[in-house]
Amino acid sequence: MNLDDLETRAREILPRGVYDYYAGGAGDESTVASNRAAWRQVRFRPRVLADVADIDPSVELLGVRLPSPVAVAPTAFHRLAHPEGERATARGAGGRLLIASSLSTVAIEEVVAAASGPVWLQLYVFRDRALSEALVRRAEAAGCTGLCLTVDVPVAGNRERDHRNGFRLPDDVEMANFTGLAQADMPGGAGSGLVHYISSQFDPSLDWSAVSWLRGVTDLPLILKGIQHPDDGRRAVDSGADAVVVSNHGGRQLDGAEATARILPDVVAAVEGRLPVLVDGGLRRGVDVARALALGARAVLVGRPVLWGLATGGADGVAAVLGGLDEGFVRTLALLGSRRARDLGPEALAPLPRPV
Ligand SMILES: Cc1cc2nc3c(=O)[nH]c(=O)nc-3n(C[C@H](O)[C@H](O)[C@H](O)COP(=O)(O)O)c2cc1C
Repeated sequence: MNLDDLETRAREILPRGVYDYYAGGAGDESTVASNRAAWRQVRFRPRVLADVADIDPSVELLGVRLPSPVAVAPTAFHRLAHPEGERATARGAGGRLLIASSLSTVAIEEVVAAASGPVWLQLYVFRDRALSEALVRRAEAAGCTGLCLTVDVPVAGNRERDHRNGFRLPDDVEMANFTGLAQADMPGGAGSGLVHYISSQFDPSLDWSAVSWLRGVTDLPLILKGIQHPDDGRRAVDSGADAVVVSNHGGRQLDGAEATARILPDVVAAVEGRLPVLVDGGLRRGVDVARALALGARAVLVGRPVLWGLATGGADGVAAVLGGLDEGFVRTLALLGSRRARDLGPEALAPLPRPV
């Protein structure tokens, strides 16, 4: 089963409002679609007779060797997909890097306990900075090895499906990192409860000083997620960030934002190797993972497919999704004549066609 087939299965199982929340994007969802399409336009130039009997898919990231460049993107509210929620996701991630959302329905301590690989906490900076700082302290104490600050949600994207469905958390599912806060700020009534939550809790006045603030609050590696402009990539380097994630939030924030496959090379060039660049958005096959690495990414994050795996098979479903991506990636390396993931570069690619 490929990941589109799995999504179809998940769609049959999940309540409409949950499926729409997971699958949907902003506005016309044009960025959701172009994220996927843009990877397919990146074409390979394989080498042959290269002895690919032994493939090494591992990569090094911030001093840690990861068994695979495929990592789990932070996505909110996993208990809407499966009763065990983020606990099952963490088990399914195996030794891979897992980025746990602030808006998790299982507390960060329990997510770290269930994981066998490194866990980063994804952070939103709340209007109440003390709330964010308290979560940073908990992440440190729990054993998280990175903090991933999401920088592309100054305000909520226009998620029309959620508005239409009146999306909100059911009473028995809570934001486990902020007990008591969630239901209070996701009132019943018309429109999306999440939009209400974001506008009441997230700080729209956030600027680069927030990065300095966070840098001063913790010694954990700091990763900025949601970089979409080469100038912001350079700014991230200057701000003391340790890595960036090129991301448009899976097309859920600014509809019409450029596909990440197209931005990635510019951001990679801008940072001049001074920090590793990760990427997410629309990666659905092992060949996409290889495309991202050849364009200069150190690792990739996968969002929605993990939720389809979780909904259809719990931890085993997540493991099957990630294992399938790894398998496809290893096969792609072999067919490219490239033995090691870390050796992939632009020489594996044909020149990019001009955007249409
Ligand atoms: C249902 C859902 C919830 C998300 N929640 C968060 C979140 O809490 N924090 C965050 O930084 N990104 C969040 N994202 C964005 C993902 O981290 C990631 O950027 C995106 O899903 C990647 O695109 P893909 O789903 O096409 O792989 C969410 C995405 C989805 C689909």
